[in-house]
Amino acid sequence: GSNSAADQEQQVGFNHDGLHYFPLGHGRGRGSRRGLLVLNHEYTDASQIYSAALGSAITPDALGMEKVAKALAGHGVTVVEVRRMPDGEWEYVIDSPYNRRITGSTPVAFSGPVSASHLLLVSALVPQPLGTLNNCAHGHTPWGTYLACEENWNGYFGTSDGSWVATPLQARYGVTAGGFGYGWHLASARFDVAQNPNELNRFGWVVEIDTLQPGSTPVKRTALGCIKHEGATVTQSRGRVVVYSGDDENGDYLYKFVGNAPWRALRDDGLSPLDHGTLHVAKFEADGTGTWLPLVHGQSALTAENGFADQADVLIRTRMSADAVGATRLHRPEWVAVNERTDDVYVTLTNGSGNSAPVNSGRDPNPYGHIVRFREEAGDHTRTSFQWEVFLLAGDPTYDAAVPAEQPKFGSPDGVWVDLEGRVWIQTDISNSSQNRPERQYDGIKNNQMLAADPRTGEVRRFLTGPRGCEITGVVTTPDQRTMFVNVQHPGESTTF
Ligand code: FEO
Ligand code: CA
Ligand code: CA
Ligand code: CA
Repeated sequence: GSNSAADQEQQVGFNHDGLHYFPLGHGRGRGSRRGLLVLNHEYTDASQIYSAALGSAITPDALGMEKVAKALAGHGVTVVEVRRMPDGEWEYVIDSPYNRRITGSTPVAFSGPVSASHLLLVSALVPQPLGTLNNCAHGHTPWGTYLACEENWNGYFGTSDGSWVATPLQARYGVTAGGFGYGWHLASARFDVAQNPNELNRFGWVVEIDTLQPGSTPVKRTALGCIKHEGATVTQSRGRVVVYSGDDENGDYLYKFVGNAPWRALRDDGLSPLDHGTLHVAKFEADGTGTWLPLVHGQSALTAENGFADQADVLIRTRMSADAVGATRLHRPEWVAVNERTDDVYVTLTNGSGNSAPVNSGRDPNPYGHIVRFREEAGDHTRTSFQWEVFLLAGDPTYDAAVPAEQPKFGSPDGVWVDLEGRVWIQTDISNSSQNRPERQYDGIKNNQMLAADPRTGEVRRFLTGPRGCEITGVVTTPDQRTMFVNVQHPGESTTF
């Protein structure tokens, strides 16, 4: 905890979440011995990144600024080359030219309908947009880049200005004077919503990183919308790229971006496939059908007379656009996974309350969460109609008779990933305000864990259990499936149970 911000910039960040392995070298064998591990850093624990003598509070002085700088350096993304030694052990390559940290302070670019020069993004205080924050889950593209997602970015902002009042846009995204209590705004005007209000609008995006080009600038791909992006799961149909993304808030929505031309053709023309396409939001009907509603300026409710100025405005206010077209409110949509063999799609709804629609499992409250499976029409991810079902109910049958007694007890599914052979891997994120607590009916479930489900039968088996206070998140294997990497986030974070 006594290391400086400058030290932290040279180190792996905090609280690993999304994770991918990019093989280096051709072939399954070589690619499974050497590769790049790329991981997201969701947040920092002030009680762990600062020494006890310094304390965790942010003060409005140079020491406070150094603490903010260290926290920013603990966020973002890490790229690290790893290799498997002849004895089977893995080690990182300390002098790899690919090793890189992208932090909350790294210069970034904007692309797509919302430019960095948009009136709602410019800042006299911070002219160059900087950094990525609260990188939860992730994605990777067919052209070999990594996607880091910005989730609970609102929590970093605040103000001591008693006259500050949230705009409707700020209120819809949960921006408050106190934020999540980090207090960065006390030392850094960058994070003061009264002094530097447009800084907010630079977050909530999907960030594309070319991990094979260590000098490349991360690019925020605005066509994918501004939400609390849990992840960005990429698949393709008819050569077009499709990106699924949950907005992790109780009552928020599931989105998908569909490219408007084959991605190879766009790249041949020097264009990004993530800049050219249409964002949609999901509507789930009670009868097991569903539709994807396009978020396009001038269509349906997204018109100038309804107050939407242009496509950039539709995207900066993605949540309000989705409200306007009548999307289905969900119980906290988290990761999305695609079975590339069957084209089935899985989305975890980690927990929630209200909106007791069938897609929310019919349980209200729904403290344990569930997994929904859907299939696009004809298995084509670019289509706008689908069929859905509840694949699994999480929970403890002691408290909820709907949960199968033979199923291992688990709650708050968050990570979901389908491996090369179709197994559905499930990772749980019970918060430390619920983990092991009887009054939350979580005492029988124990610590967070990772499980595997059979997609045909729905049988679930537990694979590993994490230490107390942690979340299990992020999973990938080498191409030969002989090594699996799993992130164990915030072990030892404060919990009284
Ligand atoms: Fe960062 Fe939605 O889990
Ligand atoms: Ca998560
Ligand atoms: Ca979560
Ligand atoms: Ca987390």
